[in-house]
Amino acid sequence: MSEWHVIGARPLRGSVRVQGSKNAVLPVIAASLLTPNETVLTNCPALSDVDAAVDILRYLGCTAEQREGEVHINTAAPERWDIPPELTHRMRSSVIFLGPMLARFGRARVSLPGGCELGARPIDLHLRALRCLGAEIEELSDGVLCRARELRGAEIPLTLPSVGATENAMIAACAARGETVIYNAAREPEIETLQGYLCLLGADISGAGSPVIRVKGFSPKDHAVLTVPPDRIATATYLCCAVCAGGELELRGVRPRELRPVLSVLRCMGCDLTEGESSLRLRAPERPRPAGAVITRPYPGFPTDAAPLLMAACLRTGGSSVFMENIFDCRFRHAEEMRRLGADISLRGPVAVVNGVERLRGARLRSPDLRGGAALVAAALGAEGETIIEDPGHIPRGYQALEESLRALGAEVWRI
Ligand code: UD1
Repeated sequence: MSEWHVIGARPLRGSVRVQGSKNAVLPVIAASLLTPNETVLTNCPALSDVDAAVDILRYLGCTAEQREGEVHINTAAPERWDIPPELTHRMRSSVIFLGPMLARFGRARVSLPGGCELGARPIDLHLRALRCLGAEIEELSDGVLCRARELRGAEIPLTLPSVGATENAMIAACAARGETVIYNAAREPEIETLQGYLCLLGADISGAGSPVIRVKGFSPKDHAVLTVPPDRIATATYLCCAVCAGGELELRGVRPRELRPVLSVLRCMGCDLTEGESSLRLRAPERPRPAGAVITRPYPGFPTDAAPLLMAACLRTGGSSVFMENIFDCRFRHAEEMRRLGADISLRGPVAVVNGVERLRGARLRSPDLRGGAALVAAALGAEGETIIEDPGHIPRGYQALEESLRALGAEVWRI
């Protein structure tokens, strides 16, 4: 358990280089199991989720070394094909190891946590995709057991464009005989990163970024070196922190084109935003305007992960903003905590209405999940006095040294 101490109402000023993407690197670490060749990841963020994924590889008998933003993975001689609960509980998205293990070993046993902080997280689409490729799957009370004597290329129609199911299908299909076509695939930028990595490994795969992905075959190459792209949600986090605290911010090493819907709402709120090829500058307005209606959708729609952060940025606007969550059941658990700061938020099912207030006052809060926790830090930057946020380890899952970066921008934030 750590405590974040934030003294708010200090404008941010300065420049930050944004970390590598958590959601891009996790499936790549899992996919490294596909071949016996070495993988080197650069610009890898130092996150507890990355540690957990690396520990899973080590448990399986691979070697993985993390040093100075690089991870060196050697998957030459894994010895196990199961992941026990101690490891899967540390990383919610450990289901992403199913496809790679099935591809490498022809079998996989993964113990899986039931729900998670965002509500039920079913894996039916992952399992259906693997069954399409010929896997036999037994659903156990505490996980799943998959076997496949041979994976065969197939048509995989996804009923929802699930990011994780698309990733599992892409990875497993690399080991299948014949062509696989994934329909209604997720289009998130992380899918394109995974495709890029699989191509480096020797896969013949195309279509990432569109709803149809084709995997035609796989012939292992020597080794792969991949630079992890910037984290679009961390980018949105810093922008929203600046709106909460006020001030002026430059973000370096980012991809503004991946954040169009977030940038467009921030502009409507009165932010002065300048986009470069790999940089963003934001000047926050004195008092932001409300965001209007923010509806979360799969990419290229407004990202669900950025909604709590934008909600923090709306707390002191001069009017009402409406958030509609379409992806997860329990996305708004931070709202009750924000109310302790004096925020006016009403919730009805998947809809949250935020009526801007003049001022927020520091309080003691508890971080409910990764993005909700970061949103509380952002909200606290706009509150008068001290806010203490108890965090049972959610924030370091997805943010590398957030407190240090904010301090470098002039914020008073300590993690104890
Ligand atoms: C990924 C991201 C997460 C992000 C989410 C949506 C990672 C590690 N996590 O999560 O940060 O918020 O995409 O952009 O990359 N669903 C099913 N059955 C399944 C799988 C999913 O019904 O088998 C549903 C989910 O409950 C949810 C929706 O599909 O309602 C989207 O989930 P999905 O895209 O799979 O999210 P994740 O891959 O878990």
